[in-house]
Amino acid sequence: MSIGDVLLDVQDVSYHFGGVQALAGCSFTVHEGETLGLIGPNGAGKTTVGEMICGGRHPATGRILFGGVDISHAARWQIARLGVVRTFQMARLMTDTAVMENAMLARRPQRGERLWRSFFPRLWWDQEIEIATAAERTVTVVTLQEKLTQMAGVLSGGQRKLLELARAAVGEPRMLVLDEPVAGVNPRLRDDMVSVLRAFQEAGVTLLIVEHNLSFIERLCKRVIVMDQGRILTSGTLDEVRADPRVAKSYLGMNVVVA
Ligand SMILES: Nc1ncnc2c1ncn2[C@@H]1O[C@H](COP(=O)(O)OP(=O)(O)OP(=O)(O)O)[C@@H](O)[C@H]1O
Ligand SMILES: [Mg+2]
Repeated sequence: MSIGDVLLDVQDVSYHFGGVQALAGCSFTVHEGETLGLIGPNGAGKTTVGEMICGGRHPATGRILFGGVDISHAARWQIARLGVVRTFQMARLMTDTAVMENAMLARRPQRGERLWRSFFPRLWWDQEIEIATAAERTVTVVTLQEKLTQMAGVLSGGQRKLLELARAAVGEPRMLVLDEPVAGVNPRLRDDMVSVLRAFQEAGVTLLIVEHNLSFIERLCKRVIVMDQGRILTSGTLDEVRADPRVAKSYLGMNVVVA
């Protein structure tokens, strides 16, 4: 997949939680079709900026453009409608609902939700079948086909993260923001996760991956950006940023090997 124009443009964004400055002039861009790794020590602001891109928080100053549209103060559902989907540091699923139904939940607003369609239930039903077919296919891609009818609550942490990805795929995202997709995930499921994300890449989906696991980042991202204290410290290939002494310094005291 070739890399296109700038899709996401984060411009000089700041944000604070009370007296804590979480983002302090954070700027970066992500190009259409790119997979960008976002790394940095605990508390750097990675989750906060990810939440902001998806409308969970709004910048105090600065702005965020998606496809040229200013989404800085847009609601979550408006941003989701543009095709931006996020997965969470801790997977969020309906645990007392079947795996298959969880996978069907993320579809973007479609034909059947328009009121007039309720007068044509046959069309609505066709669409339900279409979504179910897509959900079953994606659950198979993430290797959970044997769990289709089981409650999502029986899945392991890693399987829950794979199901979140399946759900995202059914929604046909343009951009996916992943917050620590392999934290606490065993090595076999980690490999599954790489394969699933490669499928997203091949489909042209733009990915922003927040992750502490650098070998995972290395397998998927040509370019990474490093955050520290609410701003971007540097960017480049993983090897380039690893060689930057400022990066090693920012990680001091953290249980992560960057060099
Ligand atoms: N809900 C909150 N209330 C108050 N402060 C918060 C809240 N969420 C985050 N912070 C603070 O904002 C800063 C940035 O946090 P954030 O969670 O974005 O970091 P992170 O880079 O995702 O860290 P980690 O790698 O540990 O997940 C930190 O100082 C954190 O303590
Ligand atoms: Mg975080």
